[in-house]
Amino acid sequence: MNTYGINSREKNIVNLVITNVRPYGEGDPTTVTVEDGIITAIGGRAASAVASKAQSSDNVQVVDGNGGVLLPGLVDIHVHLREPGREHTETIETGSRAAARGGFTAVMAMANTQPVDDNPIIAESIYLKGKEYGLVDVHPIGSITKGLEGTTLTEFGLMKNSLAHVTMFSDDGKCVANSQIMRRALEYAAGQDVLLAQHCEDPLLTEGACAHEGEVAGKLGLRGWPRAAEESIVARDMLLTRDYGGRLHLCHLSTTASADLVKWGKEQGINVTAEVTPHHLLLTDDLLVNYEGIYKVNPPLREKKDTQSLRQALLDGTIDVVATDHAPHAAEDKCVEIQNARPGMLGLETSLAIVAEIFVRSGLADWRFVAKVMSERPAEIVRLKDQGRPIAVGEPANLTIVDPDHTWIARGEEMASKASNTPYEGMEFHSRVTHTILRGKVTHNLAIVEGSSK
Ligand code: DOR
Repeated sequence: MNTYGINSREKNIVNLVITNVRPYGEGDPTTVTVEDGIITAIGGRAASAVASKAQSSDNVQVVDGNGGVLLPGLVDIHVHLREPGREHTETIETGSRAAARGGFTAVMAMANTQPVDDNPIIAESIYLKGKEYGLVDVHPIGSITKGLEGTTLTEFGLMKNSLAHVTMFSDDGKCVANSQIMRRALEYAAGQDVLLAQHCEDPLLTEGACAHEGEVAGKLGLRGWPRAAEESIVARDMLLTRDYGGRLHLCHLSTTASADLVKWGKEQGINVTAEVTPHHLLLTDDLLVNYEGIYKVNPPLREKKDTQSLRQALLDGTIDVVATDHAPHAAEDKCVEIQNARPGMLGLETSLAIVAEIFVRSGLADWRFVAKVMSERPAEIVRLKDQGRPIAVGEPANLTIVDPDHTWIARGEEMASKASNTPYEGMEFHSRVTHTILRGKVTHNLAIVEGSSK
């Protein structure tokens, strides 16, 4: 057993040589060798020697990175895997495959399953299934309140001490709207040293809403979801954290003022972190013009000025991470009148391409930035000690290879996810994950999956 708890006898570990990759997209292509799940050499004579020996050895797998960018394995701290309860839309197995294809080596699975993940038995079953499939580390998030009902706190301590070692709690999908319950949750979370992730939505302001409250919703005659419904909870919960302790994480921020408030909170020294989704960085509410449920999401797509502020907030570190809020839904729940459509969209298999498009291809940022917001900071926030690590000798081989010049078109039907509700259908992207490596095991190889469909 090494320092990262990786047992070399674990059957999913193979020795690996990755040739022709550029760590963080920098420098000349080099060779990386991996033994027992740990990086043993990067470039230099040692790596070349192993690489040439590997060509003739059965025990060593060789991956040709084809000049691609080598990143630390991506970490998504906000996904919905739908098992238990809605396995016709996603399972831990299909969600794990979608994650691996998206470049992820760890995901945090939200608690709004059926039954809700509000006790150690459900959490352990999710954790153990993730382990059994072994495509990505699946860490269950426990709910803050029993049954997501917003009234009785769950047993943070029991869930933390379970096999699943739950250290993040969220009622996501619903807001913990009652201020007194949220205060008690923060106090309890502070004592247990666990993270609380809030879905910021004052439900009294969003009853019956299905689109951003603005000009588009006005013209279409749709009931609006005002920015203030999110921002008021962002402000409230930061003030509660300031006064009662705990670590607060704010899910899927969607407005300019939410980002401004977080900036203020951080300046005050409040223990707060925040995420933004790829769809809130890229898409806007005018997509709803044909009343298509595929574009319905919670919080809703907003206006161009919001996407611009969110990009800026991610660039300057106000918003810490990109998280997908991967939300698979069946066609019968999306292709209905927009009022009745379930909110949410697929995200795992398109997120890297979107972040690369907005930040790297535009020249706004480099691959180090992508590593920071999609791997290092997410792993730090949820304290995954073997994820989001530097690409260096002695570190765990959780890695992602990206082809930065690969033009492809997103198609829901071709995704590994069981559902197909992507808002990017037919959209062209120019970067693509080609390989994902979890503790030295190749969990995704684009050349193998290309051409396969559901
Ligand atoms: O659009 C959303 N869908 N937002 C959420 O917060 C929950 C998610 C879901 O579970 O479908």
